[in-house]
Amino acid sequence: MAFLVFEGLDGSGKSSLMRVLESELSRRRVIYHHTREPGGTPLGEEIRKILLCKGMSNPVPRAELLLYQASRAQHVDEVIKPRLAKGEWVLSDRFSASSVAFQAGGRAISDQDVLTLNQFATAGLTPDLTILLDIPVEESRRRQAHRTAQTGEASDRIESEMDEFHERVRQSFLKQAAQDKKNWLVLDAYQSTEEMLSVLLKALKDRQWLGS
Ligand code: TMP
Repeated sequence: MAFLVFEGLDGSGKSSLMRVLESELSRRRVIYHHTREPGGTPLGEEIRKILLCKGMSNPVPRAELLLYQASRAQHVDEVIKPRLAKGEWVLSDRFSASSVAFQAGGRAISDQDVLTLNQFATAGLTPDLTILLDIPVEESRRRQAHRTAQTGEASDRIESEMDEFHERVRQSFLKQAAQDKKNWLVLDAYQSTEEMLSVLLKALKDRQWLGS
């Protein structure tokens, strides 16, 4: 089993990559659970609505951080740990690295405060591999505009932040990956989903989590 986390700016292609990886895992009869943060549990999905809606709730940065961490604590105990204990793979769309990137990088809360709360919320659980789909902020914006034009879906509270905020988020992700190369895989998200899948499968085979 493996605990894989997918991170990146909005529009980086996490969902598509997760979808093709999941087809490949199904083909190999690997049992996996797809989940996300914020969310992944009934409580987490309620917290997600509060965090992402652009309406009345406007949390200050510390309150925002604590809400992400509340969702995470519930997610770890109710979903991630039990699934891993059963021998399943867990694939999560975002996890603790997003709090470092968005709340420390983006909102300028200290790294140390975010890391302490990450440790508390996860009870020390860390991903086996964090996959960063890296694209520049301009490309993320271009893809979001395309999505809005196609679906009419408006940007959420975090997506609506300024470009400088998202640039700090991107740089924080890249810094986290550079500091922990063994546990991170950085993918150039200008590549097609198939190209990214092939790099990812190679990484999973190199670690002997998947057979050839
Ligand atoms: P999503 O759009 O990828 O589903 O993620 C929801 C938003 O929440 C996204 O803009 C990133 C943000 N986020 C944080 O700011 N901190 C966190 O800890 C997590 C998990 C997500």
